Amino acid sequence: MLAMHSMNNANDLNLQLESTLEELPRWEVQIELNCPGEDLMTAFAQEPLLPGIIVTKKQCFLGMISRQKFFEHMSRPYSFGLFSRRPIENLYNFLQPALLMLPGEFSVVEATKKALQRPLNLVYEPILVLTASGTYGLVDFHQLLLAYSQIYALTLSQLQLVEEQSQIAKAGFQDLQNNYTRLLQNEKMAALGKLVAGIAHEINNPINFISGNLVHTIGYSQSLLEVISLYQQHYPHPVPEIKNKIADIDLDYVVTDFHNLLTSMKYGCDRIEQIVKSLRNFSRLDEADKKIVDIHAGINSTLLILHSRLKEEINGKRISLVKEYGNIPEIECFPGLLNQVFMNILANAIDALCEKFQSSDLSSELPNCVNNPTIIIRTEYIFKKYISISIIDNGIGIAEDVRQRLFDPFFTTKPVGKGTGLGLSISHQIVVEKHGGELNCLSTVGQGTEFMIKIPIQLPIFK
Ligand SMILES: Nc1ncnc2c1ncn2[C@@H]1O[C@H](COP(=O)(O)OP(=O)(O)OP(=O)(O)O)[C@@H](O)[C@H]1O
Ligand SMILES: [Mg+2]
Repeated sequence: MLAMHSMNNANDLNLQLESTLEELPRWEVQIELNCPGEDLMTAFAQEPLLPGIIVTKKQCFLGMISRQKFFEHMSRPYSFGLFSRRPIENLYNFLQPALLMLPGEFSVVEATKKALQRPLNLVYEPILVLTASGTYGLVDFHQLLLAYSQIYALTLSQLQLVEEQSQIAKAGFQDLQNNYTRLLQNEKMAALGKLVAGIAHEINNPINFISGNLVHTIGYSQSLLEVISLYQQHYPHPVPEIKNKIADIDLDYVVTDFHNLLTSMKYGCDRIEQIVKSLRNFSRLDEADKKIVDIHAGINSTLLILHSRLKEEINGKRISLVKEYGNIPEIECFPGLLNQVFMNILANAIDALCEKFQSSDLSSELPNCVNNPTIIIRTEYIFKKYISISIIDNGIGIAEDVRQRLFDPFFTTKPVGKGTGLGLSISHQIVVEKHGGELNCLSTVGQGTEFMIKIPIQLPIFK
């Protein structure tokens, strides 16, 4: 008895990653065990794609004879004559065909794996599928492979999609992180700028008042001293009360010291005025826009802000600051931002010097030039188009793996609470993105580090 199943090609199916054997085209041609062998021949001849026939005994499932095994056997001498008129049972018993039977809900991927694990001589045999409704069907191995390759292609494209999405998410996250970093640093610098500008403003008025009056104080005191001197000339023998007072206050000393005292007060006032000027120069709150400025003034005011740190003694040694200022022109830039860069790099250099020179034992073996903590600031004019500012320290230096990550936001090797890891990443953004320049670092571990800022003397148009 024969029964046919309508067939599709696995290529035309709409398969998913988790598709099962039930979704594949199945052949459900059956034959009774007592039918003559030639009926098998007829069935295979009628349906050239039929991969095998299910054999039943009294309508119950018994096994399967595949096209390949049938023709392999029939092609032998006398086989056809021997089996064609006899019941299929003879051939079936003789072949004892091996069978891979899988439930219909088995996934195509798993089924392919199982089918491929069969011995080589059986690998192309159809797979017997037992459906959920209890019927048997045969899946052609070739169709199974087609389905598997379709699912494989689908997996690849889905993986690619996931990867693209994760790339997009990663890029988005990076942007977000960069913006956050910029915001944080801008906030930090704006707060520092405001504080500095506020202090500068508050100091400015009283100091103007003092230094303005000090000029008169010096003049008046000079006049008074002259009057005293005249008195002493014309009245060399004053009354005892005056005599005692003169001895009491040590008038000669007061006269000589008074002038020195006022001169040093004047010097102090000048210094405070200079500091206020530098503080204002540093904060430059009014200068969010580009300006044409003298970079040396910016560096000097930054050094002034860092004055107390530069004065610190490291293991009994003072930091020597060497300014090798070249003859550079004024440049068009965002001065407040560049001051931030100088401050970040100089602060790092001081940290690196502290870290190296704090351990006391190494200094004695070093040659003189590297014996003292030193920072060199060198400026140069390059090809009439750029200026460079190099900040060089003879601190601990930077290992290559650290150097590679130097400009990454939040990268720091400093203890928690000391460094945020923002200084250099933000400096890089300011130099490269805001000014179209370059920020490079050269370093040798144990010997020191050089940061070189190169900026065009005119800002690029796109900024
Ligand atoms: N001159 C230098 N010598 C040695 N290491 C340095 C130097 N400059 C930077 N580094 C290394 O680079 C790291 C990153 O520096 P960055 O200025 O970005 O962050 P930070 O100084 O750790 O923190 P902060 O945000 O407070 O500046 C530092 O932690 C340090 O390891
Ligand atoms: Mg830093």
